[in-house]
Amino acid sequence: MLMPNTAPDLREAAMAARENAYAPYSNFKVGAAMRAASGKIYIGANVENVSYPVGTCAEEAALAAMIVAGETEVIEAYVIADSPEPVPPCGACRQRLKEFGKDDVTVWMGTTDGKEEATTIGDLLPGAFDAGYMTRS
Ligand code: THU
Repeated sequence: MLMPNTAPDLREAAMAARENAYAPYSNFKVGAAMRAASGKIYIGANVENVSYPVGTCAEEAALAAMIVAGETEVIEAYVIADSPEPVPPCGACRQRLKEFGKDDVTVWMGTTDGKEEATTIGDLLPGAFDAGYMTRS
């Protein structure tokens, strides 16, 4: 999808976060940065565990940092990894992004060597489950 401009500050923040990822099992470090409604940027990185399913994603950490700081709306997101092609958020993180961002929010995906693509939360998770389905409960 064609997007109007890149987000160098978000990219920088996600790159810096990635440096501190704890990924000794996959050796695949991921960084994420969320621009919240206030304009402030919150960062996260993946944190793995010897009990593999316990590991957490970069997007998850960045969104948690945003929530802990008292913000609940993401207006732009960036995910970066050292991969041949930009890495899209996993299924669970798509649902997490959906919780805190509108469908038209841009999600940038970058590689450490400079490739960049953009999508939106709505395109990442079409047909998403939301609170509208629970109105009878
Ligand atoms: N990972 C993320 O942190 N975000 C993504 O979007 C894709 C995957 C992490 C989880 C795990 O630590 C490693 O990448 C390999 O799956």
